[in-house]
Amino acid sequence: MNNLKGKHIVLGICGGIAAYKSVSLLRLLVKAGAEVQVVITPAGKEFITPVTLSALSQKPVVSEFFTANTGQWNSHVDLGLWADCMVIAPATASTIGKMAHGIADNMLVTTYLSAKSQVFVAPAMDLDMMAHPSTTANLELLRNYGNIIIEPESGELASGLVGKGRMEEPEKIFEVLDRFFSSKRDLEGKKVLITAGPTHEKIDPVRFIGNHSSGKMGYALAEECAARGAEVTIVSGPVSVKAANPAIRVVPVESAREMLAACEEVFPHVDIAIMCAAVADYAPRDVYDHKIKREHIDAPVIHLVKNPDIAATLGKSKREGQLLIGFALETDNEFGNAEEKLARKNLDMIVLNSMRDKGACFGTDTNKVSIIRADGTTLDFGLKSKREVAADIIDAVLSL
Ligand code: CTP
Repeated sequence: MNNLKGKHIVLGICGGIAAYKSVSLLRLLVKAGAEVQVVITPAGKEFITPVTLSALSQKPVVSEFFTANTGQWNSHVDLGLWADCMVIAPATASTIGKMAHGIADNMLVTTYLSAKSQVFVAPAMDLDMMAHPSTTANLELLRNYGNIIIEPESGELASGLVGKGRMEEPEKIFEVLDRFFSSKRDLEGKKVLITAGPTHEKIDPVRFIGNHSSGKMGYALAEECAARGAEVTIVSGPVSVKAANPAIRVVPVESAREMLAACEEVFPHVDIAIMCAAVADYAPRDVYDHKIKREHIDAPVIHLVKNPDIAATLGKSKREGQLLIGFALETDNEFGNAEEKLARKNLDMIVLNSMRDKGACFGTDTNKVSIIRADGTTLDFGLKSKREVAADIIDAVLSL
């Protein structure tokens, strides 16, 4: 994977301990063939020397509006136009605040305000600064301006405290940038909704009915769509997988009813909806508001009621031009059952998994699918990684 060759990248560095990691990021970018222009804040220079950065980037580092001895003016407008993307790593609370409010008192912030291309922001700060409402609000403003926030990790911080605020590792930031420039951007401008994972149907405050879905297939689809330029929302049941691409919006839900409500809000605004969740078909009719105690009940009876069918509900309100894709996990009469679901739920395409195929089940990293389109044509694929399967599914969606 190398989509960064020849790309113009402005690397903004602020004054924080994590600035030392920017050196690794710079090396990775340069090694991948990108042209990198470093812009550093005055405080940044206290942490890392411009000599190191200019040696690695093979360009003078920009920091001041004017070069002291020649009086040459450094044009932030030119830099903003030159950049194919800008990445600010580390981004401190102070710079994030200035970016959010247009306080253009240094080269980094003026360049940011002039940048016409995508801006990535990788915050790094102490956990309490990270958790402060002003930081949260400023990051939300930056998100609303269209910037992509590369969320910091939880871990040991320079202060010795442990919590959220550690800048994402350079390799991960590099991957985010590489994915952004991935050549296949055939979903640019498209909005996609994906349901993923299981649903949990409450019995009492500590127990639920659920299933073994890991969410891996749904998240792989989300990553694939985001890498291809789509704006992606995952409505996700409880899972342990995380979206790697920070541009993916995750709406966490628990029950099928919550999943339906979240989907009904998003669905009218999307071009493509992919129903990958393993939705529980039934939920307890009565939810105990306290824990069911062994001593009090010998053989509790749980009455189940049918959950709403999310795919079928969306299928009823589907408008011209929208595509609705479903999944079917079957143990027998696979094609017959899948075709019946395709018609009943008003889907445009259904992805069929057979429980009889090894490596194509819950929790695995691989999958083997067949795809049935509404016109009756089918496609069969071999056993592949879930990410490769996701790419096949998206190619098939685009063929519609
Ligand atoms: N689905 C849904 N809401 C439900 C049940 C299923 O949106 N309450 C979606 C799934 O996400 C999948 C498709 O419908 O895309 C088929 O799911 P599946 O569980 O195979 O179908 P069911 O209609 O539940 O049929 P059954 O479980 O009886 O096979």
